[in-house]
Amino acid sequence: MIASTTQSYVFAQPLNFVRTQFKIIMTPYIFTENEQDQEFRRLQLLEQAFDEKTKETIQNTGIGLGWKCLEIGAGAGSILQWLSELVGPNGLVVGLDKNTTYLQHLHEPQIKIIEGLIQEFDLDEQFDVIHARYVFVHNLDSYKLIAQIGKLLKPGGRLILEEPDFTTARWIDPQYAESGNRVNRAMNAMFRNMGLNPAFGSEMPVELPRHGLEIVSLHGDMHLCKGTSPVAQVMAASTKVLQQRYIETGMVDEQDIVKYIEGTDDSRSLAIYYSTISCVCQKNAEQVIPER
Ligand SMILES: C[S@@+](CC[C@H](N)C(=O)[O-])C[C@H]1O[C@@H](n2cnc3c(N)ncnc32)[C@H](O)[C@@H]1O
Repeated sequence: MIASTTQSYVFAQPLNFVRTQFKIIMTPYIFTENEQDQEFRRLQLLEQAFDEKTKETIQNTGIGLGWKCLEIGAGAGSILQWLSELVGPNGLVVGLDKNTTYLQHLHEPQIKIIEGLIQEFDLDEQFDVIHARYVFVHNLDSYKLIAQIGKLLKPGGRLILEEPDFTTARWIDPQYAESGNRVNRAMNAMFRNMGLNPAFGSEMPVELPRHGLEIVSLHGDMHLCKGTSPVAQVMAASTKVLQQRYIETGMVDEQDIVKYIEGTDDSRSLAIYYSTISCVCQKNAEQVIPER
């Protein structure tokens, strides 16, 4: 359920053109209660595991000096920082997050940080590139939010969405498979119990055209990885935070969690941790063109 009360938000670096009253909206974001240091580390692991592919996808838009970019759910800020180098001092990079604690180290004048919720976000500005990674899977009514964000695209601008499909997760080697797959089922059940869709990423390409967006290119990556890999470390960190919620589904116990985490730390283990689907979109489209 979404509950709301009105309150003003302070912009970390003031934007003259922003005059928005944000509301506090109770979103079901599952990592809110993580300890600060642990959450910063978890966000940095995400960046280590996925920035390379994200940068390649964004670079394919032809991004360059003077471009205006919006990063939704900026996390620990590595993509914000990188975008600011690409667009230079005459460009603009706006980073939105409900929690800007991990963005305080960014000081480039072209970076503007806004603390607030997507649900209440509006800006008198249009962007060449808007990017979000692993954000909409955590929100209710995501397509409504995506359509709202899509309106901030310039004509010909690109909206890049990278979202997971956790239903593709599967442990391969028998040593960890039993507990590991129980944890995977509990993870999916936790999302569903919260009214969220664990397969959000795979279903995006079907839904986006119904919400005023044309898919220009589409790409999926299945994260088949060994233990100790960056993806395995991300999933270990997330599992440590979410273990109680998994246990509450009734599908796993503490021993399953211990075994799963042991598997993520065993360099001989192999698992499909999940998949990431990237959609590059523009406004008002009609056909889907698979990239490869
Ligand atoms: C899983 S993290 C991903 C961070 C970053 N995009 C990355 O991939 O490295 C999701 C981020 O989105 C933010 N977020 C989630 N829902 C949000 C909302 N409704 N409004 C604003 N920020 C939100 C969270 O605070 C968090 O920083």
